[in-house]
Amino acid sequence: MGLPKKPLRRSQQWFGRDEKHGFYYRSWLKSLGIPHDMFDGRPVIGICNTWSELTPCNSSFRELAEHVKRGVYEAGGFPLEFPVMSLGETQIRPTAMLFRNLVSMDVEESIRANPIDGVVLLMGCDKTTPSLLMGAASVDLPTIGLSGGPSLSGNWRGQPVGSGTGVIQMSEMVRAGTLSQEEFVEAEASMQRSKGSCMTMGTASTMASMVEALGISLPENAAIPAVDSRRFRLAHLSGRRIVEMVKEDLRMSRILTRPAFANAIRTNAAIGGSTNAVMHLLALAGRLGVELTLDDWDRIGSRLPCLVNLKPSGHYLMEDFYYAGGLPAVQREIAEYLDLDVITANGKTLGENIAQAPCWNRDVIRPLDTPFKPEAGIAVLRGNLAPDGAVIKPSAASPQLLCHRGRAVVFENIEDFKARINDEQLDIDETCVMVLKNCGPRGYPGMAEVGNMPLPPKLLRQGITDIVRISDARMSGTAYGTVVLHTSPEAAAGGTLALVRDGDYIELDVPGRRLHLDVSDAELAQRRAEWKEPARPTRGWAKLYVDHVQQAHLGADLDILVGGSGDDVTRDSH
Ligand code: FES
Repeated sequence: MGLPKKPLRRSQQWFGRDEKHGFYYRSWLKSLGIPHDMFDGRPVIGICNTWSELTPCNSSFRELAEHVKRGVYEAGGFPLEFPVMSLGETQIRPTAMLFRNLVSMDVEESIRANPIDGVVLLMGCDKTTPSLLMGAASVDLPTIGLSGGPSLSGNWRGQPVGSGTGVIQMSEMVRAGTLSQEEFVEAEASMQRSKGSCMTMGTASTMASMVEALGISLPENAAIPAVDSRRFRLAHLSGRRIVEMVKEDLRMSRILTRPAFANAIRTNAAIGGSTNAVMHLLALAGRLGVELTLDDWDRIGSRLPCLVNLKPSGHYLMEDFYYAGGLPAVQREIAEYLDLDVITANGKTLGENIAQAPCWNRDVIRPLDTPFKPEAGIAVLRGNLAPDGAVIKPSAASPQLLCHRGRAVVFENIEDFKARINDEQLDIDETCVMVLKNCGPRGYPGMAEVGNMPLPPKLLRQGITDIVRISDARMSGTAYGTVVLHTSPEAAAGGTLALVRDGDYIELDVPGRRLHLDVSDAELAQRRAEWKEPARPTRGWAKLYVDHVQQAHLGADLDILVGGSGDDVTRDSH
């Protein structure tokens, strides 16, 4: 017997059946203690949970899910929580980014295969946000995002310590001999003081801000601390709201439109957000069929000011940002650059959401006419070294290095870098350009956050804190420096980066958006003829990934995952 005629509610294709199929679908769920009337056609809400002790940033998510359920029940829905693979940025090797697309497949297939009408995505640590958004977008049910929130501000010996940013600064002090190993260890427990994601404007907070800026969460999602009672209230309200979104059939694709992406890109500039948002939003747009290119990041968002004075570019931390008014206060300040008519998850327009948003601290969130940094956003560079583009975050760079010509000091891969960077004989000075190859999507594999290469100790001892660095890698959102990233095509795909040799000269011109390797075309052709592709993985996920991953300028999604398959499943399981 085929499937019955499609009912109004998707979950009724499972639960609204009379014959043995309905028995199967309902009976085993009744083992959880669920009464028969819960299968009566009320919206079934999947709560997609990335809780894991191996993802400490998401360790509050069991409690968070309980608050979502309260809201779902209260609104007349039927919540069912399910786990997906979780990605703990600090624990997973070789890099969590290798598994972003894998988790997105887990999310997509878990949603589509099950009797779910609407979804709440519980997201926190860096990659858990894009992977859940991407997977859910390929199914395109009514969906609401709920971030876990940042941890409390770090504090060591009376000074604020920002996640990641503090580690990088203190690590360089240890290497320069100005901080002892004992002090370094003591600082560990002072930084991550509570459950929650990194509390700088790193990738996790950037992506939580993107979730809010895209309109796929309720307002205030980005900044409420993970352990603040108001985070649990937001979870409760998100649970209530998703039931209504199912009744309104407010699907992801109605919210995540090109104007919503443009709003997110502009908001990313205003908050001084992470370069990682570039990759993740490009990949998300690809799932939805929204036209978005790398150049849009430069065209739409590169010349906006940064208003938010947060680490790694500034002084404050996410807790301060929330108390100052959070993302709604920023968006109200840049309202003239935003499309205020876009619809958001609460059913209101962005304009309605931010119309009365207050700002309580003008040192944390600066006014538009006296910004924290006058030009922010992401600059997209092109030239023979990056024909398909490379990115730099000018607000995190040293102004005097934004136009620079220097001698290349080349590292063939991350192992070569680690073996030689501390060598006192390394032929390098502050005018050089450090080049790191084979750390892109295919090369690492997974495109690790190693692009902000630590400087040689001999330069650190001279007080040098920044030199130009270029790679096909990514950079942690908590990092800073004159760092050119995402060079495309990557070295392992035969990009020009693979052909750079020690002693070549490289020209970086950020205002002119140029990245040039000063080597003749004839010489480059000769080097290209001698180039050999590095060995590829031969089995498992790594092989599937390397065989199908797209280059950075396309968002590094798998080519077989671009687009979506909707929510239809045309066969029964038994
Ligand atoms: Fe998880 Fe930074 S390591 S959010």
